[in-house]
Amino acid sequence: MENGKVAVVKSQSEARLAILELAHIMSVPTSLVAVLKMKVPEAIWQGGNNTPLSASQILSIVRPNGGGDAENLQRILRLLTTYAIFAEDLSSNGKRKYSLTEVGKALVPDDDGLSYGTYVLQHYQDQYLRAWPLVGEAVEDPTVEPFEKLHGEGAYAYCMKRPDEMSLFYASMSGMSMPHMNEMLEKYDGFKGVESLVDVGGNSGVILNMIMNKYPNILKGINFDLPDMISSAPQLPGITHVGGDALELVPAGDAIFTKWTMLTWTDEECKKVLQNCYKALPVNGKLIVCEPVSPELTDESQRTRALLSGDIFIMTMYKTKGKHRTEEQFKQLGISAGFLRFRAFHIDPYFPVLEFQK
Ligand SMILES: C[S@@+](CC[C@H](N)C(=O)[O-])C[C@H]1O[C@@H](n2cnc3c(N)ncnc32)[C@H](O)[C@@H]1O
Repeated sequence: MENGKVAVVKSQSEARLAILELAHIMSVPTSLVAVLKMKVPEAIWQGGNNTPLSASQILSIVRPNGGGDAENLQRILRLLTTYAIFAEDLSSNGKRKYSLTEVGKALVPDDDGLSYGTYVLQHYQDQYLRAWPLVGEAVEDPTVEPFEKLHGEGAYAYCMKRPDEMSLFYASMSGMSMPHMNEMLEKYDGFKGVESLVDVGGNSGVILNMIMNKYPNILKGINFDLPDMISSAPQLPGITHVGGDALELVPAGDAIFTKWTMLTWTDEECKKVLQNCYKALPVNGKLIVCEPVSPELTDESQRTRALLSGDIFIMTMYKTKGKHRTEEQFKQLGISAGFLRFRAFHIDPYFPVLEFQK
């Protein structure tokens, strides 16, 4: 690396390989969706066995009445093995068997039916797939989101009007957020001493519930989200669901938490919400933010790719000028809203904790 630039030297044949991989890359998520829909991870996991199985053994579990093409399933499993979802045992007689890696295990639903798989399935629904070819529209005309151009309404509005969509959205958010929050709560103790906590954009309220279970000092929890988003949220002890728009007002609390919300707001909207949080906090009060934070350096790492591809998802589906921001951009937004101190805790490579103090 020189002067902050990542130099990547590729030969002609490596360049060809790179282009061929990119040209065919749709095979990867679509194959992943196929195995999720067939419940292949559950078939291999079998309550924790994770015994390597051949494609035909997997088919006999997921299709107990017969049917399905084992050779084609094996082709899919081989591809996903290259993305470390399955581990392949290749015997000397050429037979292949598959077990789950750590990534694959994250796709197995837990006792509450939650897994990272739901997040994947939610993202590959037809309404999103049909909007993807319009990604370049965000460059041509950033005034309307490509998703909205296609569907005539924004992604949140689309979701909130459809009850099936809402339950999938809740499960998708919880499936991804709960394991992350478990780890975050092990490593970050910024909720000590807080008696009332507001979760801005708290969705179903399960995250606030987790925080309050870990910190019994929090006696009052306010789960604040768009009215239609909380209309079917479950009742949770000590938590009041409050409907509203954070761009207009944020309810008062000793501390405010928000996770995975600011990315769908423009810089001006973020500043407005931060100002509303500032107003809602007591002197020295803390706003605790968990957002995707993009690296300054553009490299080929998995972290950078995960963050920058998520950024394009936001641009295409939610808000053309919403974005994954860098740590410095968050710091400057906080200063512009009046916050005096800013600290970042790099607990998670995707969702660091950002503390803004009044
Ligand atoms: C990506 S979800 C994240 C949910 C949850 N915080 C989590 O991390 O799992 C973003 C949430 O922000 C909410 N939201 C978006 N705009 C909002 C606004 N203006 N006021 C309040 N909530 C909002 C959405 O309804 C949604 O529940």
